[in-house]
Amino acid sequence: MARRKQIYEGKAKILFEGPEPGTIIQYFKDDATAFNNKKHAVLEGKGVLNNRISEYIMLGLERIGVTTHFIRRLNMREQLVRHVEIVPIEVVVRNIAAGTISKRLGIEDGTVLPRSIIEFYYKDDKLGDPLVSEEHITAFNWANPQEIDDMMAVALRINDFLSGLFSGVGIKLVDFKVEFGRQYEGDMMRLIVADEISPDSCRLWDMESGDIMDKDRFRKDLGDVTDAYREVARRLGVLRESENPGQSGPVLVSDNGD
Ligand code: TMP
Ligand code: ASP
Repeated sequence: MARRKQIYEGKAKILFEGPEPGTIIQYFKDDATAFNNKKHAVLEGKGVLNNRISEYIMLGLERIGVTTHFIRRLNMREQLVRHVEIVPIEVVVRNIAAGTISKRLGIEDGTVLPRSIIEFYYKDDKLGDPLVSEEHITAFNWANPQEIDDMMAVALRINDFLSGLFSGVGIKLVDFKVEFGRQYEGDMMRLIVADEISPDSCRLWDMESGDIMDKDRFRKDLGDVTDAYREVARRLGVLRESENPGQSGPVLVSDNGD
């Protein structure tokens, strides 16, 4: 890692300069944080699983025509992505009430929402990523009205895609968060999906048992966090049925020599 220039270190990932201009290497750490960094742990193998799950989802999105920053996975913990200017907005789509919407509006956890609801959060750790409206986003120039429309439309397409993908493997997609980046090519600019989509950024409930299979296991001290992520990966076909990763860390289907 010493040979590369680190650009940024976040709570769960590190970004390094990529091999060609316009590229970045995204390194998935095992660190988990919650409640704006108040809670922290290192969960062995989480980064490896998220790298692989996010790759799988980004490739699936590309197949349905949603452009993402993903170029290719490099190894167990790293993927090559396009360099983008991150829009400082977290776009959350909710299908079932859980987390902050339940608390804020007094809706019982597990209530199916009348329709999918989109929310925007301003990305600012010091402020704890506050909920904001379109008015705030345009007034403070975090994104323009066209970009907001585009982000909403793409977020709903991602919701349809992910809902189908997960329901096919017996998992309910409760909610998820997605981030977008601006990619500049000459005079042209386009918004593409960035960051990661993984059990760190989704709520996933087992359809039969209702078991939590996402980062809420960490937030709520339920234990077996990586086991749950591993099960998500296994059901998606990212881990081979015959392999039992056990306690020694995840064993991945290898296709490029890692
Ligand atoms: P919330 O209920 O805490 O607002 O979270 C909504 C969804 O967004 C949930 O799937 C978790 C995800 N999320 C992130 O990915 N990053 C964050 O910083 C937060 C607060 C939520
Ligand atoms: N990722 C955020 C944090 O580290 C919040 C969360 O996911 O709960 O605080």
